[in-house]
Amino acid sequence: MLPAGLRPRGINEVGWEDGEQIGRSGRPSGAAVEGVAVTRRVLVVGASRGIGKELVRQYLGEGWRVHATVRDPETGAVPAAPGDQLRIHRLEVRDRDQLADLVAVLGPASLDVAIHNAGVYRAPRAEMMAINAEAPIRVAEALLAAGSIAEGGKIVLVTSQLGARRGRQGSLGDYGDSKAALNDALRDRAADWSRRGVIAVVVHPGWVRTDMGGSSAPLSVEESATGIRELIEGLTAEDHGRFWTWDGREHPW
Ligand SMILES: NC(=O)c1ccc[n+]([C@@H]2O[C@H](COP(=O)([O-])OP(=O)(O)OC[C@H]3O[C@@H](n4cnc5c(N)ncnc54)[C@H](OP(=O)(O)O)[C@@H]3O)[C@@H](O)[C@H]2O)c1
Repeated sequence: MLPAGLRPRGINEVGWEDGEQIGRSGRPSGAAVEGVAVTRRVLVVGASRGIGKELVRQYLGEGWRVHATVRDPETGAVPAAPGDQLRIHRLEVRDRDQLADLVAVLGPASLDVAIHNAGVYRAPRAEMMAINAEAPIRVAEALLAAGSIAEGGKIVLVTSQLGARRGRQGSLGDYGDSKAALNDALRDRAADWSRRGVIAVVVHPGWVRTDMGGSSAPLSVEESATGIRELIEGLTAEDHGRFWTWDGREHPW
């Protein structure tokens, strides 16, 4: 049973045509071209619950066109949106076929921002590494290879402060190791991704009251998502390849 006001939406349920683009100027969002407002476009991967769902809600509220992915569109609850503002896509982030389908549907220069938020905290180590470390990089590289990110667009991979080694050499635990591996992968690819004209970062969302963060976490999803959006808005080329917190501070590796 879905909470009131929420409803599942099928992958092609929303009425906009495949390949339709708004604001294909290649400029970062917020710009106006020849007096015409450009609708900004964001992809949120892992939008069924928690921080990802709140990011979708807030971006919709700000008038962005939102692509949201959920593992199961039949049960994944995301906020409803008028008209063609929201499009739901099926994506289990380890599924290469579903990723290929998503990239094909998005089309070139279709995004100003892509946020890989999906993650797990309790799972066998191999699963944790596949979801938290390998999938975000594979998703980002698929988007880059297809030219889905507009010139000057942003890729944001949600990591955790528990993946910060801070000089330690031993294991950080399975979850910490998976996020550390994600952080390492971002740094490894930063130069290449920069040449492709995007700004890419890893972001710690804070300790947040979600299914993952638990009820004693100090931050609400609203606070975390608001901070993440503001951080993204302010990112410049100088911030590329670095580790940030939801409240705009640089985090040590
Ligand atoms: N909450 C915190 O305190 C905290 C702190 C540091 C970092 N983080 C990070 O922030 C991100 C969001 O966390 P959250 O607290 O919002 O977690 P959450 O409430 O547990 O939600 C996790 C989201 O990831 C999706 N997901 C998990 N595995 C997936 C897969 N294999 N394919 C596609 N989607 C998948 C889930 O979809 P389903 O509904 O289908 O499971 C859900 O939408 C994660 O990357 C997490 O590691 C959270």
